[in-house]
Amino acid sequence: MSDAKIVNLVDESNKRSSQLPLVSGTLGPDCIDIATLYKDTGHFTYDPGYGSTASTKSAITYIDGDAGILLYRGYPIEQLAEKSNFLETSYLLLNGELPNKQQFSSFEHDITHHTMMHESLKDFFKGFHHDAHPMAILAASVASLSAFYHDDLNVDDPADRKLAAVRLIAKMPTIAAACFRYSVGWPLRYPRNNLEYVERFLHMMFEVPSEPLELNPVAAKALDLLFILHADHEQNASTSTVRLVGSTGANPYASIAAGITALWGPAHGGANEAVLKQLNEIGSPDNVETAVKRAKDKNDSFRLMGFGHRVYKNFDPRAKIIREMCHKVLNELGVNDPLLDVALKLEEAALKDDYFVERKLYPNVDFYSGLIYKALGIPTEMFTVMFAIARTSGWIAHWIEQHETPGSRIGRPRQIYIGADTRDYPSGKR
Ligand code: CMC
Repeated sequence: MSDAKIVNLVDESNKRSSQLPLVSGTLGPDCIDIATLYKDTGHFTYDPGYGSTASTKSAITYIDGDAGILLYRGYPIEQLAEKSNFLETSYLLLNGELPNKQQFSSFEHDITHHTMMHESLKDFFKGFHHDAHPMAILAASVASLSAFYHDDLNVDDPADRKLAAVRLIAKMPTIAAACFRYSVGWPLRYPRNNLEYVERFLHMMFEVPSEPLELNPVAAKALDLLFILHADHEQNASTSTVRLVGSTGANPYASIAAGITALWGPAHGGANEAVLKQLNEIGSPDNVETAVKRAKDKNDSFRLMGFGHRVYKNFDPRAKIIREMCHKVLNELGVNDPLLDVALKLEEAALKDDYFVERKLYPNVDFYSGLIYKALGIPTEMFTVMFAIARTSGWIAHWIEQHETPGSRIGRPRQIYIGADTRDYPSGKR
């Protein structure tokens, strides 16, 4: 990495200038370091939505949106999807390197032995109405962890940070399954530590007292793969939220709870739930043409959910893997879902439509994931919760990286004020 090059910026009206260094990473375009711009010229930069702004240096994940490339710690997502598993990928995100055998079994042991929820958290659940959205319960429950583990919350202590990472990755499936079981009125299940991470989650989700549960290895493999694909995605809205909250010195549970709420929006992780609802509304391949027409109509707020991405202007590499997997999983589970035909027709129609082609709108990670979740028996309202379980390892890896970076400052964007000019309070108003 070299920071040698300089961009000269001269503001003729102000007669002030700034010499701005170019910062290079390992991959990707150089960035103009504008940290001294305001001091030098009296100007801020304006970049709504942060389309041209790098908020941090990070060594965790790299995306080349034009080429459709996604790397976790340098490893292509396609290779991790084929060869790794979710826990190993989480270790990689957290530690920067793949674990050896001993490191993996020690990490797996730590995760496995922190899977229990505090018993009092069960009482907390009772405060929610039974039909509350599981994302609302998840966000509140994760924020509440800081009340249960307040003795180990020194964000400057690497051991406390590591413990928080283990607790979050371990407990998220337990809490998520509890959200679901509470909503359907089933008794909560304790984690079975003789099972692996994903199987344990499926057991907590679907086991009922009245009959034994046969865990389906196809379902477990599919879910593990989805978790790998969703584990991290550099500075997306929820990760940036975690970092912004983290920059204040807030504890990890509070920071991750904020990430969960950011993920919930339909433009972000809530899209998987929105896709399935939309496919249901479209209902039949015969109605696809009307849906595409509506998505192109600027007077209609309707968008094709699961299409488009801020960074990918080519196929989302995760969508490619999920599309293939969707066919395989539905086939292997013997599920014949008519919504798959609607999805295929929609994809085909959009990919050859000028509007979508010109704007480089391709199916994203959320387009097919909902169909797989549905085939696994996971209810639609739980889809974004599934995303949150997986993204927890990315969020906490970023939170830790932020705290390990010397000289980190509180995140504090500026604004262009467009309100009223200074004015006097009218005399005699009161
Ligand atoms: N359907 C129809 N038109 C679209 C869509 C869509 N899904 N997405 C973008 N456009 C149009 C948009 O109207 C704009 O058109 P114009 O240039 O004529 O004004 C152009 O494409 C650029 O869109 P944008 O809103 O400026 O792009 P953005 O980078 O700000 O937003 C996005 C990215 C993902 C929020 C957006 O594409 C979208 O709303 N997609 C649907 C929701 C979705 O699937 N979200 C999941 C994203 S991937 C997973 C994740 O992030 O968690």
